[in-house]
Amino acid sequence: MRGIEVVPSAKRLITSLRALGYDLPQAVADIVDNSIEAGATVIKIDLEYLGDESWLRISDNGRGMSKAKLLEAMRYGSDVEYDSETSLGKFGLGMKTASLSQCQRLTVASRSSPTRASISGYSWDLKHIQRTNRWEVLEIPPDLLSHPLFQQLRDSTGTVVVWTCLDRILDNKYPSEDTQQKQFMAIFRELEVHLSMVFHKFLSGQLARKKLKIYICGNPIEAWDPFCTTQSETIRCDPFAHPVVEDGKAGAIHFEPFILPREDQFDSPEARKLGAGPKKWNYQQGFYFYRAGRMIQSGGWSGLRTRDEHSKLARIAVRFSPSLDDTLKINVAKMRVQLPPAIIREIKDQIQVVIGEANTRYRKSGQSAVPNLRRPAVPPSPQPTKNSIFVTMLTQEQWASRLLVAATNQERPFVQKAINRLESQTRK
Ligand SMILES: Nc1ncnc2c1ncn2[C@@H]1O[C@H](COP(=O)(O)OP(=O)(O)O)[C@@H](O)[C@H]1O
Ligand SMILES: [Mg+2]
Repeated sequence: MRGIEVVPSAKRLITSLRALGYDLPQAVADIVDNSIEAGATVIKIDLEYLGDESWLRISDNGRGMSKAKLLEAMRYGSDVEYDSETSLGKFGLGMKTASLSQCQRLTVASRSSPTRASISGYSWDLKHIQRTNRWEVLEIPPDLLSHPLFQQLRDSTGTVVVWTCLDRILDNKYPSEDTQQKQFMAIFRELEVHLSMVFHKFLSGQLARKKLKIYICGNPIEAWDPFCTTQSETIRCDPFAHPVVEDGKAGAIHFEPFILPREDQFDSPEARKLGAGPKKWNYQQGFYFYRAGRMIQSGGWSGLRTRDEHSKLARIAVRFSPSLDDTLKINVAKMRVQLPPAIIREIKDQIQVVIGEANTRYRKSGQSAVPNLRRPAVPPSPQPTKNSIFVTMLTQEQWASRLLVAATNQERPFVQKAINRLESQTRK
């Protein structure tokens, strides 16, 4: 049969791709991914309000790109080889789709030679695409590349991404000075919170690479550690791995559960406030998915259970490598993954043990820390056999938490009553 090429309509598709679901912090994070991937150690994010001429810039000191490489990078679906263990990229789309979800013009300038100040630059301009209906980027002439926006490339290698015509960021075109100020403060704050969370392992130097520094308008951002690992009362439970075979290759999803201190157990009020996290305790409980060290999703129980006040001290790091992307169904904006139901069923018992412990700690509110919860107090995770729950020796307290966890909302008050009675009998 004869193949007939049907080329997508540039103006229709490029506009539709603006709606992939990014918000501003997630879009910036996708650009930061590229900078990290290019070996950058310093990433600067700047934003200037100049009415219709406002701009946002993300610049890095990474390897940069040659002219040919930059042109390929501008292509929707760039042809790139990915490292299956460490690569933060995936679809060859992020730089374009993330940027144009926020603005109408994306300009990228880059320099790859440490010795020669040879800078190249291209733009995707939605107005140009609307006019021509062609997949055409615009080449930036040398005189424009000497604009102060790209100044840092005169001294060293790196890449500068500039967003202009910020239609999705500045929705109010003519704000009063006051509104403008507020809008900007809100953007900075949101960006800071998001980046300090999703890149916390890079910012704190936990990964096998040089520590990363990110500045927003000249201010360095601090890592936010969801597991409060520096707190003396944080419990690090036994980690476990779940084997996965994808494309005939064996891999594993790694689970590392933590039980955070109760509010009264934090070392300081500041640490307690910070520990709550951007969305506060109840929303921050659950799984934190990391792909190659970069956080993709924070909080929630992936359908295993609902968020509950009693389990709010449980937070579980889940690490996987890009080679397991299909199993975890990562989405284009790298904002969401899904644990397959079969895996959820198999890890359920191990997670329930952690939740049980978190529950026990929560219920002890107002009392001093319970000695048998101190690390490494959590019993070794049972092996995932069908009746594993019966082979672990549990204390009365652990049984009580398990019962509470297993009970439905209706049953829980009755179970609690029975536990209280049992506890008071034991004390006598
Ligand atoms: N800041 C950067 N420094 C060096 N190379 C970059 C940078 N940003 C993008 N690239 C190149 O452009 C390619 C396409 O980027 P992108 O559209 O985000 O897709 P992906 O990251 O999924 O490959 C990257 O794979 C990389 O080769
Ligand atoms: Mg990318």
